[in-house]
Amino acid sequence: MKRIGILGAGTWGMALARMLTVSGNDVLVWSAIEKEIDSLSTTRKHPNLPQMKIPDELRFTKSIEEVCKDKDILLFAVPSVFVRSTAAKARPYVADGQIIVDVAKGIEPDTLYTMTEILADELGKEGGPKGVRLVALSGPTHAEEVAIDLPTTIVSASKDMEAAAYVQEVFTNNVMRVYTNEDIKGVELSGAMKNVIALGVGISTGLGYGDNARAALITRGIAEIARLGVTMGCNVHTFAGLAGIGDLIVTATSMHSRNNRAGILIGKGETPENAVKEVGMVVEGMNALPAALELAERYQVEMPIVQTVNAIVNKGMGAAEAVKSLMERGLKNELPQGYEK
Ligand SMILES: NC(=O)c1ccc[n+]([C@@H]2O[C@H](COP(=O)([O-])OP(=O)(O)OC[C@H]3O[C@@H](n4cnc5c(N)ncnc54)[C@H](O)[C@@H]3O)[C@@H](O)[C@H]2O)c1
Repeated sequence: MKRIGILGAGTWGMALARMLTVSGNDVLVWSAIEKEIDSLSTTRKHPNLPQMKIPDELRFTKSIEEVCKDKDILLFAVPSVFVRSTAAKARPYVADGQIIVDVAKGIEPDTLYTMTEILADELGKEGGPKGVRLVALSGPTHAEEVAIDLPTTIVSASKDMEAAAYVQEVFTNNVMRVYTNEDIKGVELSGAMKNVIALGVGISTGLGYGDNARAALITRGIAEIARLGVTMGCNVHTFAGLAGIGDLIVTATSMHSRNNRAGILIGKGETPENAVKEVGMVVEGMNALPAALELAERYQVEMPIVQTVNAIVNKGMGAAEAVKSLMERGLKNELPQGYEK
C-alpha cells in the first residue's frame, strides 16, 4: 500500500483517486475549493462522473500541508492554469526527493514551460524541496472511462527512469496498463498540442465535414506536432505512441472530449467564449493555443492546423473560410522533409 496525496479534485483527479483507492492505496485528496471538499466527502459523488461511487476509504482534506506530508507520491491533477499557483502553495510542505506526478496537459504561455518544468521552477524556489523526482503521466485516458474501470493505457514519462518505473508499478492494475518513456518533453508536448488539433477536428465536424476530414486532421495534426517536437529535441517515436497519436485519436473522436465538443459548437457557429461556457469545464486546447503559436515561431516550424485553429478562435475568421484556406495551401510531399528520415 502506497500513501498518495492528490492535489485537485476535478474529473481526472477524482477518477484516479478512486482507481488508486480500489487498487489498495491510501489516498488523500485536496482541493483549493473548500466547498468541493465538503460536497465530495458527504455525497461521495462527483458531479461530472455520476456513475462513479467514491469509496469510503478515500479521504479528503482542506489542508495542503496534510496532503503533501509523508506521501510516497504527490499527484498534481489541477488544470494547467493552476499548476504554478498550486505548486507555490505546496512548496513549503513538499519533502526533499519527493516523487511528483503531473497529469495536467498544457504549456505555460510566457515561459513556454511544460507542466513538469513549471513544477521544477516553482518548487525549486527559496524554501522549497531539494531533488524532487518529476514524472508526467499522459495518454489516451478519459476520466469517464477510468471511473468505471474500462481498460486504459497510459505513459509514465521521466528523465529519471527509476521514478518512472515506480509510478508504473503503483498505477498498474487489472484495468490500467502503464508504459514508461524517457522522452518526457515529447510526452508533455503531445499532451498539450493534441488539444489544439482536437479543437480543429471538432470545428470540422461542426461544419458538417465527415470522417475523411477527421482522419486528415488527425494524421496531419500529429505530423505537425512531431515536426515541432523533433526540432525541439524529442524522440520521433513518442509521437507515434500512446501519449502522441493515441491521445490525439481519443481526444479528436470522442464526445467525452471537451476540446472536441467546444470545436463542434464553434463549427456550428457559436462564439469561442460561448462554446467554452457551454462545455462548462476547462478547454485546455484554448489555453494551449498562444504557447503553440509561440513555439512554432521560436523553432521556425510550420504548423498550419494550429494556425488555422487560432485564426478561427482568436481572430474571428469564419470556420468554413479557414478550412478552405487549409485545403488551398501549396501542395506538399507527405514525408518529413529535413528533420528525420
Ligand atoms: N478529464 C480527463 O479525462 C483528463 C484526462 C487526462 C488528463 N486530463 C488533464 O487533467 C487536468 C485536469 O483536468 P480535469 O478534467 O480534472 O479538469 P476539471 O475542469 O474537472 O478540474 C476542475 C478542478 O480544478 C480545481 N481547481 C479549480 N480552481 C482552482 C484553483 N484556483 N486552484 C487550484 N485548483 C483549482 C478544482 O479541484 C476543480 O474541481 C487538465 O490539464 C486535463 O487536460 C484530464
